[in-house]
Amino acid sequence: MATAPDTLEGEVRRRDFIYIATGAFTAVGAAAVAWPFINQMNPSADVRAMATTDVDLSGIQPGMAIKTIWQSKPVFVKNLTAAEIAEARKVSLASLRDPQSLADRTQPGRENWLVTLGVCTHLGCVPLGAAEGESKGDFNGFFCPCHGSHYDVAGRIRKGPAPKNLEVPPVTFKSDTLITIG
Ligand code: FES
Repeated sequence: MATAPDTLEGEVRRRDFIYIATGAFTAVGAAAVAWPFINQMNPSADVRAMATTDVDLSGIQPGMAIKTIWQSKPVFVKNLTAAEIAEARKVSLASLRDPQSLADRTQPGRENWLVTLGVCTHLGCVPLGAAEGESKGDFNGFFCPCHGSHYDVAGRIRKGPAPKNLEVPPVTFKSDTLITIG
């Protein structure tokens, strides 16, 4: 009987087709399901906008500072006076707990613009010193009242329990009067 093998073979082939077709459907289905998850991981435009903060420097006179927010964290932007720059430069790095020069913490040619997180490196309180009339501590910079950390004019830790200088975030100068933080 010549038909039996054909039928059997046809049966096998049909089953193979069903498996192959099912496999292909599963793969397409997985891709279709995976795409929304992958797409959800791409930051939306408003999230990307929140990742950076633009600051207009034009109103910040020498000796003044402002507070802003970057990625939900307070940030201090300070325009150092010539006297404050000189004061920061004359400090011996060997005397510092977290040795960094003012040049290490600012952009080349723009050492007057000190941008730091307003987050004490001890336990995260917001230090004083960026607003008019606030205590600047013993080193003319910032003072954290939570446990008494004193930061100098360049935001470097000088006294108290904080282990590190106030953190400097990424800063890009878009022009002489506009920076982007982040
Ligand atoms: Fe600033 Fe403790 S959190 S000194």
